[in-house]
Amino acid sequence: MDGKNIVLGVSGGIAAYKACELLRRLKAAGHDVTVVATESALKFVGIATFEALSGNPVSTDVFTDVPTVRHVAIGQQADLVIVAPATADLLARTASGRGDDLLAATLLVSRAPVLMAPAMHTEMWTHPATVANVATLRSRGVTVVPPAVGRLTGPDSGPGRLPDPEHLAQLAELLLAADPAHHPLPFDLAGRRVVVSAGGTREALDPVRFLGNRSSGRQGYAIALVAAARGAEVTLVAANAALADPPGVVVRPVVSAVELQTAMREAVASGTDAVVMNAAVADFRPADPAAHKIKKTADTGPPAIELLENPDILAGLVADRGADRRPVIAGFAAETGDDTTSPLEFGRQKLARKGCDLLVVNRVDGGRGFETDHNAAVILRTGGDSVDVPFGPKTVVAAAVCDALAAALAQPGDPVATNLSTPTADSTDLNTRGATT
Ligand code: CTP
Repeated sequence: MDGKNIVLGVSGGIAAYKACELLRRLKAAGHDVTVVATESALKFVGIATFEALSGNPVSTDVFTDVPTVRHVAIGQQADLVIVAPATADLLARTASGRGDDLLAATLLVSRAPVLMAPAMHTEMWTHPATVANVATLRSRGVTVVPPAVGRLTGPDSGPGRLPDPEHLAQLAELLLAADPAHHPLPFDLAGRRVVVSAGGTREALDPVRFLGNRSSGRQGYAIALVAAARGAEVTLVAANAALADPPGVVVRPVVSAVELQTAMREAVASGTDAVVMNAAVADFRPADPAAHKIKKTADTGPPAIELLENPDILAGLVADRGADRRPVIAGFAAETGDDTTSPLEFGRQKLARKGCDLLVVNRVDGGRGFETDHNAAVILRTGGDSVDVPFGPKTVVAAAVCDALAAALAQPGDPVATNLSTPTADSTDLNTRGATT
């Protein structure tokens, strides 16, 4: 992607130091970043740090560089405004349309997409005033990312940590990559429970070795990240993924296919609207894993390993559904195709065989799809139609999967009768990108 103009707003919380890492990532991706800090942000990080990392001057008030009308120009030129961290005070000022410093004025002027990452103490985050301000901002199309849960500034823990800068950078790339007419992060999954599996299962051969696969978990993590940013309550069943927990997502680590099946069943049994089976599940497991490390012995040669078939978790989840066909279920298929059959044709056969509502087909020949941040996919729907997702960041595929889930969920009792290309009523309302703040 060509470099874009990004405004990085920084308000005054201890997490301001993490804005430096986000700034580095945005610069490394080739963007021109202008930092607009509040006065109090500069009590945490010095102006020289932001200026050196961004290569642009940093100011806080509307009276600096008046002849260039900076308080208007910065917002007008922005392709994206990110505020990280966004304090309770900044959220309140933005929700009420204040323009009392350069950051507030920039947020009033800009018509670009806005991504806000709140960070504050749990009491402030859950205060009714903050809850109302966040709801106001979301109703205007602003993406307010749920804070991460964990250790806060003092000895206390809870929701309120700034999400990992990597996750914020991924959401920023999604907003920049999207067609301006289609908001990739509407708040349309609010009140929905979504269970996602990710990563690759490992089937023990002995205490140190396993049969595994190349799945890094990045695509499933991207789906969890995007679904949570769109308001869903997300459980991520993660098989051996060495990735940071996405903000607002409950992560359940597992190792083997059997553990994955148990975790998925438990998560789905507690009430779920949609399931995305993204994990690469080993089809077979060693029948009798050795209790001790298998030794190389000259006289017996290589050991024979007997395999047992693993359960088909996706097909099992489909079979467990009632007549209402809830939850909506999406599978993934990583296909290479062969001499006679295309990856897409294999995908159609798999969709019919598994009985799920949606199947996301990726081509994985030539090293595509694995261990990268980019992917391309075709989302197949039972009934025959499909959506092409061109090569791009994995968050773009994730947003397309969330669009498909939201569309299916918008049809009560008939998740497969929805045309994927039709935005839901909710997302249409929120597709006024950058219309406010
Ligand atoms: N899957 C599953 N349980 C398995 C194998 C696969 O739930 N034991 C799910 C995957 O999570 C994915 C979908 O089924 O959503 C397709 O996985 P894939 O490995 O492509 O399909 P297989 O059923 O293994 O078919 P094949 O190996 O013949 O391609």
